[in-house]
Amino acid sequence: MQVWAIANQKGGVGKTTTVVTLAGLLAEVGYKVLMVDLDPHGSLTSYFQYDPDELDHSVYDLFVTQGDVTAVQVKSLLCNTNVESIQLLPASTAMATLERRAIEHHGMGLQVAKALRHLKGSYDYVLIDSPPVLGVLMVNALAACNHLLIPAQTEFLALKGLERMIRTISMINRARKKKLKYTIIPTFYDRRTQASVSCLRELHKCYPDELASAVVPIDTKFRNASMKGVVPSSLDASSRGVNAYARLLRTLIEQQG
Ligand SMILES: Nc1ncnc2c1ncn2[C@@H]1O[C@H](COP(=O)(O)OP(=O)(O)O)[C@@H](O)[C@H]1O
Ligand SMILES: [Mg+2]
Repeated sequence: MQVWAIANQKGGVGKTTTVVTLAGLLAEVGYKVLMVDLDPHGSLTSYFQYDPDELDHSVYDLFVTQGDVTAVQVKSLLCNTNVESIQLLPASTAMATLERRAIEHHGMGLQVAKALRHLKGSYDYVLIDSPPVLGVLMVNALAACNHLLIPAQTEFLALKGLERMIRTISMINRARKKKLKYTIIPTFYDRRTQASVSCLRELHKCYPDELASAVVPIDTKFRNASMKGVVPSSLDASSRGVNAYARLLRTLIEQQG
């Protein structure tokens, strides 16, 4: 079971879109996929028509259950989506209170990793949508994954956010035994603008080994798909945006060998 976390300490860079699009593409080639929504805003959860304000059970339960969660408890939290082979472990707005609790209770950094251990064999891929703040939820995402994907908007302000994320990885690496592998995905690319072009050049210079060769262009089809609540590839499999993610996915699968 491959576990990929999608994170960046900046909002609006395409994290949730990356999760949904990759999930759709993985499902199309026959993989079983679990998406985990660790963002208290619950955008991923809302995308699939669940209301993060109304859900009685969510990822939140993993943090408030006494003792270790059981396989039955984890499985009871899973929700179906409109794609048969994609399931969702949803977020609820109650998760916003977890950051405060985490300070009171040490050792909450592995709750998601422990829960996922119960799902080995049930899924080929787990995609974790992380919130844009460095806190207990992001730490859980980074601790649970074996590969980190960092969508980065191709504009200069985004480079600062990226530097912050890279520092976070170094911090996490000190706590983990194995170095965390990561791939930076350039998003919102517009080749007609100087800002996009020079930012991409800068990314190549600073992260030659970690930068994905696939570049995700600005594509309004992503927003259309989110309004309809469907994975982008089912709305338009040949759109430029979906194509870029398909190329990204091919290289990621090759890398994992
Ligand atoms: N490549 C893209 N081109 C155009 N719009 C995009 C693209 N990627 C994401 N979007 C849109 O931008 C908004 C923010 O994207 P989202 O994936 O929610 O970012 P994040 O999860 O990082 O906050 C959404 O409305 C989404 O549909
Ligand atoms: Mg998001």
